[in-house]
Amino acid sequence: MASKNRLIVVANRLPVNRVKKKGRLAWETSPGGLVSALKPFLTETGGSWVGWGGSPGKAPTPFTHENIQIRPVSVTAEQVEKFYAGFSNATLWPLYHDCVRTPQFHRRWWWPYVDVNRQFAEAAAAEAKPGDTVWVHDYQLQLVPAMLREIMPDVRIGFFLHIPFPPLELFAQLPWRREILTGILGADIAGFQTPQGARNFSAACKRYAEASGTDTKLEHRGHTVVSKAFPISIDIENVEQAVTSKEVIDRAEELRKDFASKRAGERKILLGVDRLDYTKGIEIRLRAYEELLRRGAHTVDDCVLVQVAVPSRETVGEYAELRAFVERLTGRINGEYGQAGRTAVHYFRRNLDYKELMAFYRAADVMLVTPLRDGMNLVAKEYVIAKTGEERAGTLVLSEFAGAANELGGGALLVNPHDVDGLAATMDVSITMPESEVQRRMGLLQRAVRKNDVYGWAHGFLEALRS
Ligand code: F6P
Repeated sequence: MASKNRLIVVANRLPVNRVKKKGRLAWETSPGGLVSALKPFLTETGGSWVGWGGSPGKAPTPFTHENIQIRPVSVTAEQVEKFYAGFSNATLWPLYHDCVRTPQFHRRWWWPYVDVNRQFAEAAAAEAKPGDTVWVHDYQLQLVPAMLREIMPDVRIGFFLHIPFPPLELFAQLPWRREILTGILGADIAGFQTPQGARNFSAACKRYAEASGTDTKLEHRGHTVVSKAFPISIDIENVEQAVTSKEVIDRAEELRKDFASKRAGERKILLGVDRLDYTKGIEIRLRAYEELLRRGAHTVDDCVLVQVAVPSRETVGEYAELRAFVERLTGRINGEYGQAGRTAVHYFRRNLDYKELMAFYRAADVMLVTPLRDGMNLVAKEYVIAKTGEERAGTLVLSEFAGAANELGGGALLVNPHDVDGLAATMDVSITMPESEVQRRMGLLQRAVRKNDVYGWAHGFLEALRS
């Protein structure tokens, strides 16, 4: 039954993908925790999702999918280039990730960002009625809260940033810093992955947007905005169900045989799973593994690195360069250290389907999550839960600069992902760690992840927004 106060989700991507089924085009629910977490709230309230279908041009007319009203927003080819590839992914993305690549500031990208944000705000206003709750997501849509408040002052507006909010010194570089902050300040609640992100946002607002108040509560033009951490999580039950199924258990066993067996005994499997993105630290991870083999502490007889790299944002120049670099490095390591039947690095440039991914996690002895900066990193949390009921636990090597380190620092081996020698030394520790210590750490990790799932996250945010 639809209730009077509906939830409207506004996100760059729609929760559905266009797929071909039996020769016909159809919509299919996108995989991923965010969609499944928000679905119950949307269906319960007869809510809507406003987003972009992923291809340029005129958007399909609004439709209903699994009880959710879908309102696609049109984004032209020029806007895809300037709003999406340009301002979102070549200006904001590197700026918000510690400037690990140089952000590009182009006025020709700014105005399309404003225009597309306005299109989203107008589409949200067309869906919302007074008293409804609108939840805006992520860095592509930071202007939407204020634009929407101007059109509809009587809705509750939440904003959640899935990526880090940078420290003041870095954010200060942005020529449009005031406009971005004023955009987010249109929300009633601004949510971040970590308390540090919330503090960075408050500090920037006080410095550049004439806001006053504390780290957690801001006053701006007579409007109060709560700035708070809501660390996102995963669909724990879904992961558990998959990894305890016979299909995934058998497949994990098969993968272990394929990757890990050698003539006598077994090799330790070290696994990395990342979007092929320069923030993920893939190239430094590969160099650290190369260093480990170079030192002779380990050889391809004891260990193997499996790297899954999911293609992403390939129209952005830096991503194409990263791919070429990672592939050269992989070739170099295999050329130097591989042996017949024992490849040093197995590199897969593809998106694994959900069950296959779960089997990879389950098979891995060591999970390498070493981003240079990351809002949260859900791979780390998924790996931990993927080891449910598994006798051979696993070790998580985790970057200090991932949001997940706040919650998982107790059980993981924390590393500075820029430090090749330090990372190589930690890989060594993870390969030789006594089983009892692996188990002890995994116990701590499981307890930490199980404190909150993605449903708890969504519920917590919406409760705060509606109270
Ligand atoms: O982490 C930020 C994020 O936008 C996610 O929401 C998304 O899954 C991922 O990056 C991929 O982004 P894109 O929509 O650009 O493919």
